[in-house]
Amino acid sequence: MEQSDNGNSIISSGVFNHNVGKYLSVQENSLQNRDAFWSEHARIIDWYSTWTKVLDDSKKPFYKWFKDGKLNVSYNCVDRHLKNNRRNKAAFIWIGENGEEKIVTYQGLYRRVNAFARTLLDSGLGKGDCITIYMPMIIETVVAMLAAARIGVVFTLVFSGFGSDALAERIRDSNSKLLITADGGFRNGKIVDLKKIADEALDKASDIETVIVYKRTGHDIDMKEGRDFWWDKIVKDDFLPVPPEVMDSSDPLYILYTSGTTGKPKGIVHGSGGYSVWVANTLKWAFDPGEDDRWWCAADIGWVTGHSYIVFAPLLLGLTSILYEGSILYPDPSRMWQIVERYGVNQLYTSPTAIRSLMRHGNHYPDACDLSSLKVLGTVGEPINPAAWEWFYKVIGKGRCPVIDTYWQTETGGFIISPSVNLGLPNLKPGSATFPMPSVEPYVLSEEGSPTRNGEKGFLCVKGTWPGMMLTINNDPSRYMDVYFSRFPGYYYSGDYAIQDEEGYFWLLGRADEVLKVSGHRLGTIEIEDALVSVDGIAEAAVFGKPDAVKGDAIVAFVVLREGHHRTPDFVTQTKKIIRESLGPITVPDEIHVVNNLPKTRSGKIMRRVLKAIYLNQVPGDISTLESGATVEEIKEAMDLFRKQNKDLL
Ligand code: WTA
Repeated sequence: MEQSDNGNSIISSGVFNHNVGKYLSVQENSLQNRDAFWSEHARIIDWYSTWTKVLDDSKKPFYKWFKDGKLNVSYNCVDRHLKNNRRNKAAFIWIGENGEEKIVTYQGLYRRVNAFARTLLDSGLGKGDCITIYMPMIIETVVAMLAAARIGVVFTLVFSGFGSDALAERIRDSNSKLLITADGGFRNGKIVDLKKIADEALDKASDIETVIVYKRTGHDIDMKEGRDFWWDKIVKDDFLPVPPEVMDSSDPLYILYTSGTTGKPKGIVHGSGGYSVWVANTLKWAFDPGEDDRWWCAADIGWVTGHSYIVFAPLLLGLTSILYEGSILYPDPSRMWQIVERYGVNQLYTSPTAIRSLMRHGNHYPDACDLSSLKVLGTVGEPINPAAWEWFYKVIGKGRCPVIDTYWQTETGGFIISPSVNLGLPNLKPGSATFPMPSVEPYVLSEEGSPTRNGEKGFLCVKGTWPGMMLTINNDPSRYMDVYFSRFPGYYYSGDYAIQDEEGYFWLLGRADEVLKVSGHRLGTIEIEDALVSVDGIAEAAVFGKPDAVKGDAIVAFVVLREGHHRTPDFVTQTKKIIRESLGPITVPDEIHVVNNLPKTRSGKIMRRVLKAIYLNQVPGDISTLESGATVEEIKEAMDLFRKQNKDLL
């Protein structure tokens, strides 16, 4: 290892293919000859008919990639592989938490997708309708997604760790008429009662007429006559193929809800053509998986990483993927390494939180397994600290495998900044996502909107667009414009802080807004606060993230009780229970503090960041940057008042 100027180690050349020249020429070509570049790279998938224009930007920022191009994503993920030697190739090797194994070939996937598409058609669904999927990490979840795409039905898949209110909200906003769920799922050796949570959600979102329930755990559940149907009973395997619906490139494929700074979660809408072209190309560029490789994206299907890199990209490329149902710490921390050894995993893509939590258990678990099949490692979801990077690189990759730190977001569809094995790797610097993917033009902008100097912190923004960019926010196009395109005109605003170093490398430094990253899961403080104030007795709440060595952010909540309410001995336990049920276990605050008052601006806005600074005992030098819309004097007053009023409690 060499030392770079900024103190971070750089992998010395020789280990990898440092053909950065190729990367640079591809990048330049993608910017100079955008249309020709994408006309060529769009052929990574099959089209029924090609586009009249590569990019229609006449209604910016509502871009249309591959205008008028016709395709079907499900056809591209499954059918077209049946024509070649991938027909009997494993599409998925599924491993249950209890150790079961199921191998599904492309042919097998085709049968299942067609059978389920028939069921959806029989339920009266057609192009443009929306369904909600609330399922564990099983093959049938993928089948449901692809069956919907086959008949032009838009799906919204809800992370199985979310609770009933979160599910109800997504069902309502997406206007879903049908829900696909399971009796339960296995997680950490326990059953997650998905059907029970779904029933609670349906009491709140009553538009659902049909519920299809897959039997996974076999435990007792309630089935509502006339509404709920067992998957096995209604899906016929008599093999009547369902012709794929011809879709426009800009027809929506799915809606995925994600958290923002204000209001309820945003339904990010991804399209068909541009999105598919983007995820397939970016996976190839960044990780370069080969025809005979085993690819493992160890994310959850419920988040965008799972959508793009467990389901769509690997299937579009005709790869064999590992799909693991449960927790990587169950039954013990050797789970991940045993899977790598048993199935000969070649590319392993996971999160910094997963790496940190495995690292804590020491080297003996990975050391006991044969990890020699690994060729490329990857991370996503949060900034990776150099110690975790080095451990992944040395202990897991034995210094042989590059660590591909992919930076992207639900909104971007796929990687936008990432090293690229296929195009030529730069020297890697632990903690830097390095350089943009072809066609992406990132800038680090100052508060005033001008590019920052090298090494100066600013906001990561992207000029122009790329094919994987979301189409809009469901039901709220003006919010799409406001949130992403109004702050720096002409740029997409990511909400992340970044710096660019002297050598042009991008370093992502975390969120610039009120979004938390708890174990890589993206959560809005506002959603947790809303859930807290709906608890009986709580008048006001403020939530912020406290740095946590494993999880990234740990959730801290400060609450003020209503007049006449007193803190009971089980207040914290009860409140946590209510939050767990409504939003889900990942949203439960680690700490809940009861105070008399919260720091506020004169106009009554709660100053979360002031609270965080007080809590962390930081007396910030420049407090004017702490809260927009508040004066320095106001912040000082609020801090003093808060300290005085809560003297006995802090
Ligand atoms: C963060 C996940 C640093 C970032 C794909 C972003 C990262 C948010 C990285 C999006 C990375 C993702 N380095 N930070 N390599 N990748 N992030 O929508 O804050 O769940 O805005 O998409 O994760 O989270 P989301």
